[in-house]
Amino acid sequence: MSSDDLPASGAAPLVARSVSRSLGALPVLDGIDLEIGPGEVVALVGPSGCGKSTLLELVCGLQPADAGTVTARPAALMPQRDLLLPWLDARDNVALPLRIAGTGRKEARGRAQELLDHVDLGRFARSRPDQLSGGMRQRVAFLRALATDRELLCLDEPFGALDAITREELRAWLARLLDERPRGVLLVTHDVEEAVLLGDRVVVLSPRPARVTGTFAVEGARSGRDVADPSVLAARTAVRDALHDAIAAGRGGIP
Ligand SMILES: Nc1ncnc2c1ncn2[C@@H]1O[C@H](COP(=O)(O)OP(=O)(O)OP(=O)(O)O)[C@@H](O)[C@H]1O
Ligand SMILES: [Mg+2]
Repeated sequence: MSSDDLPASGAAPLVARSVSRSLGALPVLDGIDLEIGPGEVVALVGPSGCGKSTLLELVCGLQPADAGTVTARPAALMPQRDLLLPWLDARDNVALPLRIAGTGRKEARGRAQELLDHVDLGRFARSRPDQLSGGMRQRVAFLRALATDRELLCLDEPFGALDAITREELRAWLARLLDERPRGVLLVTHDVEEAVLLGDRVVVLSPRPARVTGTFAVEGARSGRDVADPSVLAARTAVRDALHDAIAAGRGGIP
Protein backbone atom coordinates (compact mmCIF):
# COMPACT_ATOMS: atom_id res chain seq x y z
CA MET A 1 0.00 0.00 0.00
CA SER A 2 1.21 3.51 -0.75
CA SER A 3 -0.60 6.80 -0.79
CA ASP A 4 2.01 9.25 -1.96
CA ASP A 5 4.09 7.63 -4.67
CA LEU A 6 5.24 10.22 -7.17
CA PRO A 7 4.78 9.56 -10.90
CA ALA A 8 7.42 10.92 -13.29
CA SER A 9 6.83 14.42 -14.64
CA GLY A 10 4.77 14.21 -17.85
CA ALA A 11 3.21 10.88 -16.79
CA ALA A 12 -0.44 10.50 -15.75
CA PRO A 13 -0.81 12.81 -12.72
CA LEU A 14 -3.07 10.25 -11.02
CA VAL A 15 -3.24 6.49 -11.11
CA ALA A 16 -5.31 4.82 -8.39
CA ARG A 17 -5.59 1.04 -8.35
CA SER A 18 -7.99 -1.08 -6.26
CA VAL A 19 -8.21 1.56 -3.56
CA SER A 20 -10.26 0.73 -0.48
CA ARG A 21 -10.82 2.77 2.64
CA SER A 22 -12.90 2.39 5.79
CA LEU A 23 -13.61 5.12 8.32
CA GLY A 24 -13.81 3.27 11.61
CA ALA A 25 -16.10 0.31 10.98
CA LEU A 26 -17.68 2.03 7.95
CA PRO A 27 -16.49 0.82 4.53
CA VAL A 28 -16.39 3.94 2.33
CA LEU A 29 -14.34 3.09 -0.79
CA ASP A 30 -14.29 -0.37 -2.32
CA GLY A 31 -11.67 -1.22 -4.93
CA ILE A 32 -11.62 2.09 -6.82
CA ASP A 33 -9.65 2.27 -10.09
CA LEU A 34 -9.16 5.79 -11.42
CA GLU A 35 -6.70 7.37 -13.80
CA ILE A 36 -6.24 10.96 -14.96
CA GLY A 37 -3.99 11.70 -17.94
CA PRO A 38 -1.95 14.92 -18.30
CA GLY A 39 -4.37 17.80 -18.95
CA GLU A 40 -7.40 15.51 -18.61
CA VAL A 41 -10.52 16.54 -16.68
CA VAL A 42 -12.34 13.67 -14.98
CA ALA A 43 -15.71 14.45 -13.39
CA LEU A 44 -16.80 12.26 -10.49
CA VAL A 45 -20.51 11.85 -9.78
CA GLY A 46 -22.20 9.66 -7.19
CA PRO A 47 -24.95 9.70 -4.57
CA SER A 48 -24.57 11.94 -1.53
CA GLY A 49 -22.43 10.32 1.16
CA CYS A 50 -20.95 7.68 -1.15
CA GLY A 51 -17.33 8.69 -0.48
CA LYS A 52 -16.39 11.31 -3.11
CA SER A 53 -14.76 13.75 -0.68
CA THR A 54 -12.98 10.85 1.02
CA LEU A 55 -11.54 9.80 -2.35
CA LEU A 56 -10.33 13.36 -3.05
CA GLU A 57 -8.65 13.56 0.34
CA LEU A 58 -6.95 10.27 -0.36
CA VAL A 59 -5.70 11.51 -3.76
CA CYS A 60 -4.32 14.63 -2.04
CA GLY A 61 -2.54 12.52 0.57
CA LEU A 62 -4.71 13.76 3.45
CA GLN A 63 -5.91 10.22 4.22
CA PRO A 64 -4.19 6.88 3.68
CA ALA A 65 -5.66 4.02 1.64
CA ASP A 66 -6.28 0.80 3.57
CA ALA A 67 -5.60 -1.25 0.43
CA GLY A 68 -4.54 -0.52 -3.12
CA THR A 69 -2.18 2.12 -4.48
CA VAL A 70 -2.44 5.82 -5.24
CA THR A 71 0.29 7.31 -7.42
CA ALA A 72 -0.27 11.04 -7.72
CA ARG A 73 1.52 14.26 -8.51
CA PRO A 74 1.29 16.72 -5.64
CA ALA A 75 -2.28 18.00 -5.85
CA ALA A 76 -4.04 21.24 -4.98
CA LEU A 77 -7.38 20.73 -3.25
CA MET A 78 -10.36 23.04 -3.32
CA PRO A 79 -12.40 21.54 -0.47
CA GLN A 80 -16.19 21.27 -0.44
CA ARG A 81 -16.48 24.31 1.83
CA ASP A 82 -14.37 27.23 0.65
CA LEU A 83 -12.55 27.58 3.99
CA LEU A 84 -11.25 31.06 3.23
CA LEU A 85 -9.67 32.54 6.32
CA PRO A 86 -12.06 35.31 7.42
CA TRP A 87 -9.35 37.57 8.87
CA LEU A 88 -7.26 37.61 5.68
CA ASP A 89 -8.15 39.70 2.63
CA ALA A 90 -8.64 38.06 -0.79
CA ARG A 91 -5.01 38.64 -1.79
CA ASP A 92 -3.58 37.05 1.34
CA ASN A 93 -6.03 34.13 1.10
CA VAL A 94 -4.79 33.44 -2.45
CA ALA A 95 -1.16 33.93 -1.36
CA LEU A 96 -1.50 31.54 1.60
CA PRO A 97 -0.34 28.29 -0.08
CA LEU A 98 2.64 30.13 -1.56
CA ARG A 99 3.57 31.47 1.87
CA ILE A 100 3.22 27.95 3.33
CA ALA A 101 5.52 26.69 0.56
CA GLY A 102 8.13 29.22 1.67
CA THR A 103 7.65 32.07 -0.83
CA GLY A 104 8.40 35.51 0.62
CA ARG A 105 5.47 37.78 1.49
CA LYS A 106 6.11 40.35 -1.25
CA GLU A 107 6.50 37.77 -4.02
CA ALA A 108 3.49 35.73 -2.84
CA ARG A 109 1.30 38.84 -2.70
CA GLY A 110 2.50 39.89 -6.16
CA ARG A 111 1.57 36.50 -7.63
CA ALA A 112 -1.81 36.56 -5.84
CA GLN A 113 -2.51 40.05 -7.18
CA GLU A 114 -1.65 38.86 -10.73
CA LEU A 115 -4.11 35.97 -10.39
CA LEU A 116 -6.84 38.26 -9.05
CA ASP A 117 -6.22 40.81 -11.83
CA HIS A 118 -6.41 38.03 -14.42
CA VAL A 119 -9.98 37.24 -13.42
CA ASP A 120 -11.12 40.84 -12.87
CA LEU A 121 -11.02 40.60 -9.11
CA GLY A 122 -7.99 42.86 -8.72
CA ARG A 123 -9.96 45.68 -7.13
CA PHE A 124 -11.25 43.32 -4.44
CA ALA A 125 -7.74 42.24 -3.41
CA ARG A 126 -8.01 44.01 -0.07
CA SER A 127 -11.58 42.86 0.68
CA ARG A 128 -12.15 40.22 3.31
CA PRO A 129 -14.30 37.16 2.50
CA ASP A 130 -17.37 38.58 4.26
CA GLN A 131 -17.18 41.60 1.93
CA LEU A 132 -17.36 39.40 -1.19
CA SER A 133 -20.34 37.84 -2.98
CA GLY A 134 -20.70 34.03 -3.02
CA GLY A 135 -19.42 33.83 -6.61
CA MET A 136 -16.42 36.00 -5.81
CA ARG A 137 -15.57 33.85 -2.79
CA GLN A 138 -15.66 30.73 -4.94
CA ARG A 139 -13.31 32.37 -7.43
CA VAL A 140 -10.91 33.41 -4.67
CA ALA A 141 -10.97 29.84 -3.31
CA PHE A 142 -10.29 28.64 -6.85
CA LEU A 143 -7.34 30.99 -7.27
CA ARG A 144 -5.94 29.76 -3.98
CA ALA A 145 -6.01 26.21 -5.37
CA LEU A 146 -4.37 27.44 -8.61
CA ALA A 147 -1.70 29.56 -6.91
CA THR A 148 0.89 26.81 -6.53
CA ASP A 149 0.47 25.76 -10.18
CA ARG A 150 0.12 22.06 -9.43
CA GLU A 151 -0.37 19.56 -12.27
CA LEU A 152 -3.29 17.95 -10.46
CA LEU A 153 -6.28 19.90 -9.21
CA CYS A 154 -8.94 18.30 -6.99
CA LEU A 155 -12.17 20.33 -6.94
CA ASP A 156 -14.89 19.24 -4.52
CA GLU A 157 -18.20 20.67 -5.75
CA PRO A 158 -16.59 24.00 -6.63
CA PHE A 159 -19.87 25.54 -7.79
CA GLY A 160 -22.05 24.18 -5.00
CA ALA A 161 -24.48 26.57 -3.32
CA LEU A 162 -24.40 29.15 -6.13
CA ASP A 163 -27.30 30.39 -8.21
CA ALA A 164 -27.72 28.97 -11.73
CA ILE A 165 -26.40 32.03 -13.59
CA THR A 166 -23.28 32.36 -11.45
CA ARG A 167 -22.66 28.61 -11.83
CA GLU A 168 -22.83 28.96 -15.58
CA GLU A 169 -20.43 31.91 -15.57
CA LEU A 170 -17.93 30.12 -13.34
CA ARG A 171 -18.16 26.96 -15.43
CA ALA A 172 -17.24 28.93 -18.57
CA TRP A 173 -14.52 30.68 -16.60
CA LEU A 174 -13.00 27.35 -15.51
CA ALA A 175 -13.17 25.96 -19.07
CA ARG A 176 -11.22 29.01 -20.28
CA LEU A 177 -8.63 28.71 -17.50
CA LEU A 178 -8.09 25.04 -18.36
CA ASP A 179 -7.69 25.93 -22.05
CA GLU A 180 -5.03 28.48 -21.16
CA ARG A 181 -3.19 26.18 -18.79
CA PRO A 182 -4.24 22.52 -19.06
CA ARG A 183 -3.82 20.37 -15.96
CA GLY A 184 -5.19 17.14 -14.61
CA VAL A 185 -8.45 17.79 -12.80
CA LEU A 186 -10.61 15.58 -10.60
CA LEU A 187 -13.94 17.40 -10.35
CA VAL A 188 -16.63 16.25 -7.93
CA THR A 189 -20.10 17.47 -8.82
CA HIS A 190 -23.74 16.59 -8.20
CA ASP A 191 -24.71 18.23 -11.46
CA VAL A 192 -24.68 15.79 -14.40
CA GLU A 193 -24.83 18.64 -16.93
CA GLU A 194 -21.78 20.26 -15.35
CA ALA A 195 -19.98 16.89 -15.42
CA VAL A 196 -20.50 16.42 -19.17
CA LEU A 197 -19.77 20.07 -20.02
CA LEU A 198 -16.44 20.11 -18.20
CA GLY A 199 -15.24 16.50 -18.10
CA ASP A 200 -13.31 14.63 -20.76
CA ARG A 201 -14.61 11.58 -18.94
CA VAL A 202 -17.30 11.12 -16.31
CA VAL A 203 -16.88 8.43 -13.66
CA VAL A 204 -20.04 7.24 -11.88
CA LEU A 205 -19.82 5.85 -8.35
CA SER A 206 -22.22 3.55 -6.51
CA PRO A 207 -23.72 4.36 -3.10
CA ARG A 208 -21.36 3.73 -0.17
CA PRO A 209 -19.08 1.85 -0.21
CA ALA A 210 -18.23 3.57 -3.48
CA ARG A 211 -17.34 1.41 -6.45
CA VAL A 212 -16.89 2.65 -10.03
CA THR A 213 -20.04 1.57 -11.88
CA GLY A 214 -19.36 3.27 -15.21
CA THR A 215 -17.04 5.59 -17.13
CA PHE A 216 -18.29 7.77 -19.99
CA ALA A 217 -16.19 9.72 -22.48
CA VAL A 218 -17.42 13.13 -23.66
CA GLU A 219 -16.43 14.21 -27.15
CA GLY A 220 -15.51 17.68 -28.36
CA ALA A 221 -13.38 20.54 -27.12
CA ARG A 222 -14.45 21.69 -23.66
CA SER A 223 -14.65 25.41 -24.41
CA GLY A 224 -16.93 24.90 -27.42
CA ARG A 225 -19.37 22.51 -25.75
CA ASP A 226 -23.05 23.24 -25.52
CA VAL A 227 -25.78 21.31 -23.69
CA ALA A 228 -27.63 21.01 -27.01
CA ASP A 229 -24.74 19.21 -28.80
CA PRO A 230 -25.88 15.68 -29.67
CA SER A 231 -22.73 14.14 -28.19
CA VAL A 232 -23.14 16.13 -24.95
CA LEU A 233 -26.82 15.19 -24.74
CA ALA A 234 -25.98 11.51 -25.31
CA ALA A 235 -23.31 11.58 -22.59
CA ARG A 236 -25.71 13.34 -20.21
CA THR A 237 -28.38 10.68 -20.74
CA ALA A 238 -25.89 7.84 -20.31
CA VAL A 239 -24.46 9.31 -17.09
CA ARG A 240 -27.91 10.07 -15.69
CA ASP A 241 -29.09 6.52 -16.42
CA ALA A 242 -25.98 5.04 -14.84
CA LEU A 243 -26.47 7.19 -11.76
CA HIS A 244 -30.13 6.17 -11.43
CA ASP A 245 -29.17 2.51 -11.85
CA ALA A 246 -26.47 2.82 -9.20
CA ILE A 247 -28.86 4.49 -6.75
CA ALA A 248 -31.62 1.93 -7.46
CA ALA A 249 -29.17 -0.95 -6.95
CA GLY A 250 -28.15 0.62 -3.61
CA ARG A 251 -31.84 0.54 -2.56
CA GLY A 252 -31.98 -3.18 -3.26
CA GLY A 253 -33.23 -2.76 -6.82
CA ILE A 254 -36.24 -0.52 -6.01
CA PRO A 255 -36.14 2.30 -8.60
N1 LIG B 1 -14.28 11.63 9.82
C1 LIG B 1 -15.23 10.72 9.56
N2 LIG B 1 -15.47 9.72 10.42
C2 LIG B 1 -16.41 8.79 10.19
N3 LIG B 1 -17.19 8.78 9.08
C3 LIG B 1 -16.99 9.75 8.19
C4 LIG B 1 -16.01 10.76 8.37
N4 LIG B 1 -16.04 11.58 7.28
C5 LIG B 1 -17.01 11.09 6.48
N5 LIG B 1 -17.57 10.00 7.02
C6 LIG B 1 -18.64 9.19 6.42
O1 LIG B 1 -18.09 8.64 5.23
C7 LIG B 1 -19.05 8.60 4.21
C8 LIG B 1 -18.51 9.27 2.98
O2 LIG B 1 -18.35 10.66 3.23
P1 LIG B 1 -17.91 11.65 2.10
O3 LIG B 1 -17.87 13.00 2.71
O4 LIG B 1 -16.66 11.15 1.47
O5 LIG B 1 -19.13 11.52 1.06
P2 LIG B 1 -19.48 12.41 -0.21
O6 LIG B 1 -19.75 11.48 -1.33
O7 LIG B 1 -18.44 13.45 -0.40
O8 LIG B 1 -20.85 13.09 0.24
P3 LIG B 1 -21.54 14.46 -0.27
O9 LIG B 1 -22.00 14.19 -1.67
O10 LIG B 1 -22.69 14.66 0.66
O11 LIG B 1 -20.51 15.53 -0.18
C9 LIG B 1 -20.30 9.28 4.76
O12 LIG B 1 -21.22 8.27 5.09
C10 LIG B 1 -19.83 10.02 5.99
O13 LIG B 1 -20.82 10.02 6.98
MG1 LIG C 1 -18.47 15.49 -0.35
